[in-house]
Amino acid sequence: MKISIFGLGYVGAVSLACLARDGHHVIGVDIDATKLRLITEGKTPVVEEGMVELMRQVAASGRVSVTTDAAEAVLGSEISLVCVGTPSAPNGSQDQGAILRLAAQMGKALAGKREPHVVVFRSTLVPGTVEGVLRPIVERESGKKDGVDFHLCFQPEFLREGSSIKDYDKPPFTVVGANAAPAHDKLRALFGHLPCKYLETSVRSAEMMKYCCNNFHALKITFANETARLCGALGVDPFEVMDLVCQDTQLNISRAYLKPGFAFGGSCLPKDLRATNYLAKTRDVELPMLGAILKSNEEHLELAFDKVVAACPPGRRKVGFVGLSFKTGTDDLRESPLVTLAERLIGKGYELRIYDPEVHLAQLLGANKSFIEQHLPHIGQMLHAELDAVVAGSDLIVLGSSSRPVIEALAARLRPGQQIIDLVRVPAGVLPPERVAGLCW
Ligand SMILES: NC(=O)c1ccc[n+]([C@@H]2O[C@H](COP(=O)([O-])OP(=O)(O)OC[C@H]3O[C@@H](n4cnc5c(N)ncnc54)[C@H](O)[C@@H]3O)[C@@H](O)[C@H]2O)c1
Repeated sequence: MKISIFGLGYVGAVSLACLARDGHHVIGVDIDATKLRLITEGKTPVVEEGMVELMRQVAASGRVSVTTDAAEAVLGSEISLVCVGTPSAPNGSQDQGAILRLAAQMGKALAGKREPHVVVFRSTLVPGTVEGVLRPIVERESGKKDGVDFHLCFQPEFLREGSSIKDYDKPPFTVVGANAAPAHDKLRALFGHLPCKYLETSVRSAEMMKYCCNNFHALKITFANETARLCGALGVDPFEVMDLVCQDTQLNISRAYLKPGFAFGGSCLPKDLRATNYLAKTRDVELPMLGAILKSNEEHLELAFDKVVAACPPGRRKVGFVGLSFKTGTDDLRESPLVTLAERLIGKGYELRIYDPEVHLAQLLGANKSFIEQHLPHIGQMLHAELDAVVAGSDLIVLGSSSRPVIEALAARLRPGQQIIDLVRVPAGVLPPERVAGLCW
């Protein structure tokens, strides 16, 4: 394939070398003449394991050329990979100067090209940039249409400096956000042989997931380091602790707890986080990330409260709760975020009716009983044994139970116009979608 690569930093230079190694003809484009000269001489513009030898090899193959002329590169290739830098601006926003200028240059070049062209943005871009910012520029400058005359798509790059050639050859996956088949056809031809999944998604999801990955990596490192600081102060071996933590592949190193939903609660997580943070305080250890988790959880609860208030029809204040315990399938009400939400709504004058098939007041015991007596003292008047009474007497439903039979029973009883605030993400097809408002989905 004939490929042009814009921006020959770590990402662009490694891609150029690996694609040329794989037999493709590659045109490298950069505004930095020194980088172009180095590549022409068979030298690497970046310090990376394996790049010295690989650049020498691919330069000798005759499959690599360089230019500063964007139009020449677009006209001479069928696909462009855009890898220019997107650094931080002083205020923390993304400095998109380079990519905006490049989009205009590519648009002008595409104006003079008859054959269809695929443009793959590989620079990390804040979600919405390709479709909301770059597409209008390219369409305006080219006088052509995305999806018809050319195809813009986004493919996040996952290589790590220091091991980029290895990562190029064995990425965790290939993720491509595209709106049209021609982009996937070309990218499958380039990357389909790699030993990983090829995942198709929307452009915005692909942009967002790159941030999500980097944020997750930063979060993991900080988690290990905060744990180590506390371990250090307590005379515990942090390596041994983290090694044990990582050996749990059911709950810890797994998909568990990574599905968006409502706030967490229950009898363990909040109390143990509080104890951890208190312990750190007594040892003069700062744990800003662990210390912020409960605050973030409260924000999630606040969002649910705001959604319920905004969704209640004007002048109506009757809210039906379907689900109350901290987790479906248990009657444990201790620190249930649904109890806190109910408490907040009652405090603001809302009238609540509650249905939870697992919660039977007469059977509540011990700490569970005293928690609910303290937080919802009039629960006896609000809790109904039948769903019918809750649905019939409510202007709005808050769904906090993920039990399928319960959701199906709710679907069968909904009154005309009755809306649902969904805190559990109901499975598709069970409730009429126009009646359901997700918490943040
Ligand atoms: N470095 C990494 O490990 C890594 C990994 C994944 C994703 N990314 C992302 O990939 C992008 C590139 O990162 P990098 O580290 O390779 O950047 P870099 O700063 O090393 O290189 C960017 C290159 O783009 C060139 N450039 C700027 N404007 C240009 C233009 N108009 N035309 C042609 N070239 C131009 C610069 O001269 C420079 O050589 C960034 O968005 C980054 O966030 C980087």
